[in-house]
Amino acid sequence: MPKGFPVAGFVSSLTYQARAADVLISTYPKCGTTWMQNIVWLILNRGEPLAVTTKMTDVIPHLEEVGRAFVEALPEPRVIKTHLPFGLCPRHPEMKVIYVTRNPFDCAVSFYHHTRGFPRHYDFSEGTFDDYFECFVAGEVDFGDYFDNIGSWLDEIDAPNCLFLTYEQMKADPRAAVVAVGEFLGPQLGAAVGDDAALDRIVAHSSFDAMRKDQLRWASKRPDDMPEFVRKGVIGDWANHFSSAQVRRMLARLADSPHAARLRALWPEIIQGAESFAAAGSDPRHSTQ
Ligand code: PPS
Repeated sequence: MPKGFPVAGFVSSLTYQARAADVLISTYPKCGTTWMQNIVWLILNRGEPLAVTTKMTDVIPHLEEVGRAFVEALPEPRVIKTHLPFGLCPRHPEMKVIYVTRNPFDCAVSFYHHTRGFPRHYDFSEGTFDDYFECFVAGEVDFGDYFDNIGSWLDEIDAPNCLFLTYEQMKADPRAAVVAVGEFLGPQLGAAVGDDAALDRIVAHSSFDAMRKDQLRWASKRPDDMPEFVRKGVIGDWANHFSSAQVRRMLARLADSPHAARLRALWPEIIQGAESFAAAGSDPRHSTQ
């Protein structure tokens, strides 16, 4: 858990009793959580953006940060963010779960910039990507190991009350992703996606450019010399950061996963690209400069 999260929040989160009407947004960090929170918020509010003076985490809180009482005080339907693995998550057979994942290479890079940019939570302002990679590949980062987290969910996400999306799918067709979320939420909660004008607003207000503005809605202030929370929003930034040895080690972690075949099928081009660098022994980060 991040150093700035109260232990009591984590402990009480484990006792939260999920309700049928709950909507859980579950991710490993840096895989598109805030983007999905905003999409769900916009759908429920017919495309009306979050006020610039409101924090997303006040209306869609992070369960293991704020704890049980805060979430219980939300109006229904409660929409809840979590980075917990499946085994620790609240469950109800009828609740809706949206799980978003992202390829592990870009996730690691995004998590590196996140970690160095929050001095209150981490003592890592001077940390390099090479330093961070060692932590990530060992699973010794916030919320544990990337492969453990996605592995814990992969057996569950084919259930009818789960929607599984990748960050890369959302990037490829944001409008289709918004419609998929709306349809998953159902005719009542998701009705806005059936209205063209509302759908246009939802897509516009959840775009990267729109979310780049008024960033204090999404996260606390970062030092001026650090990248912003909504930072780059692209697929493939990993190639600016990874050495070929790091690519090989990440591919080895992926190959060791009991879900390796399914993970490969999620990102065939990214993984083939990584394998080409590894086979050639060439450093991606040097080839992109
Ligand atoms: S956190 O801290 O776990 O809640 O972070 P999370 O929100 O999961 O991930 C942050 C990354 O998502 C990018 N982002 C977006 N990409 C595309 N479009 C939109 N609208 C968008 N909003 C956030 C954000 O920039 C982080 O990725 P990187 O690669 O660091 O830019």
